[in-house]
Amino acid sequence: MPRHLVTIRDVAQRAGVSTSTVSHVINGTRFVSPELAERVREAMAELRYQPNAVARSLRRRETLTLGMVVPDNANPFFAMMARAVEDTCYRQGYSLILTNSEGDLGRELANINVLVAKQVDGLILAAVGLGSRDLQRVLRQVPTVVVDRELSGIQADTLLVDNFDGGYQATRHLIELGHRRIGCITGPSVTTPSAERVTGYRRALSEAGLPYEETLVVRGDFQFAGGYEGAQALLSLPQPPTAIFACNDLMAVGAIAAAAALGRRVPDDLSVVGFDDTILASYVTPALTTVAQPIADIGRLATEMVLQRVQAPTDPPVRRVLPTRLVIRQSTRALVDDGR
Ligand code: RIB
Repeated sequence: MPRHLVTIRDVAQRAGVSTSTVSHVINGTRFVSPELAERVREAMAELRYQPNAVARSLRRRETLTLGMVVPDNANPFFAMMARAVEDTCYRQGYSLILTNSEGDLGRELANINVLVAKQVDGLILAAVGLGSRDLQRVLRQVPTVVVDRELSGIQADTLLVDNFDGGYQATRHLIELGHRRIGCITGPSVTTPSAERVTGYRRALSEAGLPYEETLVVRGDFQFAGGYEGAQALLSLPQPPTAIFACNDLMAVGAIAAAAALGRRVPDDLSVVGFDDTILASYVTPALTTVAQPIADIGRLATEMVLQRVQAPTDPPVRRVLPTRLVIRQSTRALVDDGR
């Protein structure tokens, strides 16, 4: 027997008031005397009335829900960002639906279509990394903030970090420690953050008069395995690097593991720098020198930007770039000149 759904009408009859009075008490849309309001709240409690969120959202044309799509919510960077988004949503009276694209364009698009169908009020998208006409079309249907990775041809608010300066600072730090052969493990080729970090790596080498050597740059995937395999390849070179800049923390941790498997100590035999400064960076041994992204600020600001966009859908798109910062820990040290 289906449970009888308690309606506003039931509450009004129990409280001895009109249904509009009950609605005003629930939605706070008009003053109701304390005495009447108390009678309504008592009737709601006695009948265990639950306001119907779907009905309210149809009435108000809002669901008080945001959607979010990230490439890999198991990566601490995206997990920490999503947590900051959810914290901000909660404080603003919103719910969050988090989905995962697994770095797949088709799955990213499918997730966005589902979130649009669920009538989310706004969307926060950490994209797989490419703009497309399909993506352009679907993003026109929902107020959107693109975070972390820039999408060409997409008219949407964008929140990024200074990846170039981060890559530059990481590499200059290693150069100042005396390293001359510095390897680089990149992220996926389609992502703008990885390309910008490598450009910073190249600028620091160039400013120090050091050559850019293709053999010292290996393609990674922002995953532990990509860092492990990348470091294995670099450390197997006839003239291996004495330092490695990995374009994210997960790959830097993989590189440290690969060095250990080859009997190389970090930092004594090999210095390693990462990028993100997730919880991994402090928990790994040795603690990771890395480039910090303001992850909590990114999540908070992205949420505030999309809520602002919901209120002002026709304002021109906003683009913000937050600074990155080198955090020196124990995975880097000065090169000991032992004639290598
Ligand atoms: O660790 C995941 C990486 O993907 C981060 O560096 C972030 O910037 C994203 O691009």
